[in-house]
Amino acid sequence: MTTLSTELALRRTFAIISHPDAGKTTLTEKLLMFGGAIQMAGAVRARGEQRRTRSDWMAIEKERGISVSASVMTFEHEGLTYNLLDTPGHEDFSEDTYRTLTAVDSAIMVLDAAKGIETQTLKLFEVCRMRDMPIITFINKVDREGREPIDLLDEVEKTLALDVCPVTWPIGMGRDLKGVYDLVNDRVIMFDPGRGDHIAAAVVDAPLDSPKLDEAVGASAAARLRDEVELVRGGYPEFDLESFRAGHLTPVFFGSALKTFGVAELLRGVGRLAPSPLARKTNTRTVEPTEEKVTGFVFKVQANMDPNHRDRIAFFRLCSGRFKRGMKLKHVRSGKVMALVNPVFFLARERELAEEAYAGDIMGIPNHGQLRIGDTLSESEDFHFLGIPTFAPEVLRRARLDDPMKAKQLKKALDDLAEEGVSQVFKPVDGSSWIVGVVGPLQFDVLTTRIESEYNIRAGFEDGGFVTARWVAAEDAKELEKFTAANKSNMAEDRDGSPVYLARNSWQLGRAQQDFPAIKFTATREQH
Ligand code: G4P
Repeated sequence: MTTLSTELALRRTFAIISHPDAGKTTLTEKLLMFGGAIQMAGAVRARGEQRRTRSDWMAIEKERGISVSASVMTFEHEGLTYNLLDTPGHEDFSEDTYRTLTAVDSAIMVLDAAKGIETQTLKLFEVCRMRDMPIITFINKVDREGREPIDLLDEVEKTLALDVCPVTWPIGMGRDLKGVYDLVNDRVIMFDPGRGDHIAAAVVDAPLDSPKLDEAVGASAAARLRDEVELVRGGYPEFDLESFRAGHLTPVFFGSALKTFGVAELLRGVGRLAPSPLARKTNTRTVEPTEEKVTGFVFKVQANMDPNHRDRIAFFRLCSGRFKRGMKLKHVRSGKVMALVNPVFFLARERELAEEAYAGDIMGIPNHGQLRIGDTLSESEDFHFLGIPTFAPEVLRRARLDDPMKAKQLKKALDDLAEEGVSQVFKPVDGSSWIVGVVGPLQFDVLTTRIESEYNIRAGFEDGGFVTARWVAAEDAKELEKFTAANKSNMAEDRDGSPVYLARNSWQLGRAQQDFPAIKFTATREQH
């Protein structure tokens, strides 16, 4: 039996962040191909394409199986195990993405060579930065005309305040693309435009000053490359593993996901540079992945995978230890012990490994609603992992029911779906109908469709007069009582009974904050 630390050293758990259309789906598919998981790659592609229009997206969302199997993808390459966590591309689902990012140890940031950093890239990067997450940059689509590579690097450096260190360098771009130069090993990875995939691209060992380089890519491309590399080596810091691991420096790879070009170098880069599973903080102490006792947390819940059974899958990141199927873990929030007899693993190959998992791995735990986002499971100690936030929703609407006799069922449906963490339900203290909050308005369409198809209830969402929500708390319980009494028509409770202030406009929120300085208003709420 291998030791725990050997297993951990072989694991990389990461996500891909990008702006829609930069090529995340294509890159995911190609990474899986290297991991021998081609059959899954098809599922990823289908999803990427169908996401493009709203109705198609909803149809695919109903096909829960596909989106779940593609949410976590475990594959192997050159002796290492990679857990790739997918994040929804649409910005209306960014909350889900933020939480998925709490479950990884590093990320690949994909940029379109013609566009550089875009709005969604920036937002997601900022989430990674809050956690000092190591980021590897992949500049994609070099098979098309793009911006000057140096220009792109400067943009990353300035916009993200991040040191950049190219690992590969494009030799030409678009129609003139000859290959990429591997700056670490002094060799050329040749690009052949006639081939759609470069799984085994021709590689020419060619130190910069050797005539072999001219032979391989032509004299003028070689001359240009020499000039550029001189600039790059003089202008950017040398690679420093510590600085990368601390989130201050990003190694940069160039390539084309579509042509499977430069992807192997990127994957090897993840293997060589990205950290193995990292320690995680709890409310009492930091948990090291090498600890023998099994611990972990739920970062995502997917309800109603099978409409005939009201079960759900909790996505669980193991933070320490070696998990064995059938193990009993304590559900810290309720104090109950759960036997994990049928966890789902996301391994594309080697099914026999499904009996065991290690820190850094992701398992799906089927359950009937006991497991919520942010919950900790622990083999011995009672603590909970920190840093899995609930965000204040940005759009609020009031639930409207066509058949008032179905109020109870609607409550159940709203609660169930809120458990997935994408929507939130607030019960106004004045007894009026539920207020549902989401991060992006597209969510209301998804909710309406799912409530109808999964619960057989016709409901809708209408303007409830509120624009934003804040959790409220005070050190002195009397202050909170005073605040609640003075703001009855704005007060509601979340699913845990925590008080929430719903504001009709930003002026009203500002006024409430001014009038009640003893009250703490928060836009995110840590679970528990
Ligand atoms: P996303 O998940 O980040 O949203 O992006 P996705 O992979 O779906 O790619 C967006 C578009 O960019 C797709 O084209 C895809 O084929 C293209 N693309 C991805 N990587 C590359 C690349 O390296 N080079 C070039 N030239 N194109 C690339 P589409 O026309 O929107 O879709 P499709 O019909 O090709 O699937």
